[in-house]
Amino acid sequence: MNILIIGSGGREHALGWKIKQSNKVEKLFFAPGNAGTASLGTNLSAGVSDFEKIKSLVLENEIDLMLVGPEVPLVEGLHDKFAADPELKDVKVVGPKKAGAELEGSKDFAKAFMARHNIPTAKYFTVTSDNLEEGLAFLQTMQAPYVLKADGLAAGKGVLIISSLEEAQASLKEMLGGQFGAASSKVVIEEFLSGVEVSVFVITDGKDYKILPEAKDYKRIGEGDTGLNTGGMGAITPVPFADKVFMEKVEKQIIQPTITGLQKDNIEYNGFVFFGLINVNNDPYVIEYNVRMGDPETEAVMLRVKSDFVDLLEGAADGTLGEKSLEIDERTAVTVMLVSGGYPGDYEKGKVISGTENVDGSIVFHAGTDTSNGEVVTAGGRVISVSSYGENMKQALATSYKNAELINFDGKYYRKDLGFDL
Ligand code: AMP
Ligand code: GLY
Repeated sequence: MNILIIGSGGREHALGWKIKQSNKVEKLFFAPGNAGTASLGTNLSAGVSDFEKIKSLVLENEIDLMLVGPEVPLVEGLHDKFAADPELKDVKVVGPKKAGAELEGSKDFAKAFMARHNIPTAKYFTVTSDNLEEGLAFLQTMQAPYVLKADGLAAGKGVLIISSLEEAQASLKEMLGGQFGAASSKVVIEEFLSGVEVSVFVITDGKDYKILPEAKDYKRIGEGDTGLNTGGMGAITPVPFADKVFMEKVEKQIIQPTITGLQKDNIEYNGFVFFGLINVNNDPYVIEYNVRMGDPETEAVMLRVKSDFVDLLEGAADGTLGEKSLEIDERTAVTVMLVSGGYPGDYEKGKVISGTENVDGSIVFHAGTDTSNGEVVTAGGRVISVSSYGENMKQALATSYKNAELINFDGKYYRKDLGFDL
């Protein structure tokens, strides 16, 4: 089979690494990929939203299966385009169509879906410029801190958590006034939930699902979970508090009603559902849905998937997931993200990366890299992720940290306290 992975991050490199291990793969392609994916397969030059270019590359390279990494092309309808185009309709696409991708593309849609299907989540109220007064009044009924979310995709920046009522009311007006562009022309106000977060993933064909290893993501730039939010500074799997009892609640109260909810709403869905959960006194609540795998969680989770991943992807695309099996590696896996100095604020690109050849006992996934004059250089805030196995979290982290020291680029930074809360 010829497989194309859409995207250019550490997630896509890690998916490619796992897919490459399957003997079902003939040729592996990435669009656009990065300097790391170029050593696994062939990078094709197309942006993730350039559907016409993607179409011509799929035809030219006789792609049998396309796995969509990021949410943007899914929300924009890449799968719908393939299904509607006679030249593309035989290509298997892994990732939901537009209607299902709304679970991530619209917070209001996701909240209404959860309310309709009795899925535990924070109380909410949706505001537009038409009901601003009601929104302001709703805030008065809530307790601090106040959670305001832009309805649409905002590259992970659309959530504000505000401690004073006056500031929250002012922020609500600013958001509706275009603070996050069209994404915040609608704002979801949410009750604040207090607890530890965990990322749970399933692969599904819309009827059956398989639960992939859960992971803890570290979103803040600073040690002790301080400072600005990033795309993710590292991940650990398994998560100790997500024990059998907790995961049974997750499956019964959240995963099953989500899959049956999609069916009841006549939403065809295949691909991944990423449940961003929070553990409130041992009960799981949904903070958000994503319609793709997490990044950097994938860079740890893929290490624990023992089964042929292409077989599972085919099952999701063909509606035969119920016939497939998923075997999980019992070991711990972690990933540590090396980022550019200044990230998530301004940072410089084009810094030469050296030392990856010295890495021993870890797997290196490129997140934001490029090649320039034959050298691998930084091309993003998140640059390289160092993933390792261990008998336990401490051991796995020690291996990643040892190897993180061997990789160098100007301004390199990483968090040295991952797992501090587990
Ligand atoms: P989201 O983009 O919806 O995942 O929100 C980003 C981050 O904001 C989450 O990972 C949480 O840390 C935090 N957050 C979102 N919603 C809530 C909530 N209702 N209560 C507490 N924290 C929240
Ligand atoms: N790691 C969080 C995300 O992928 O959105």
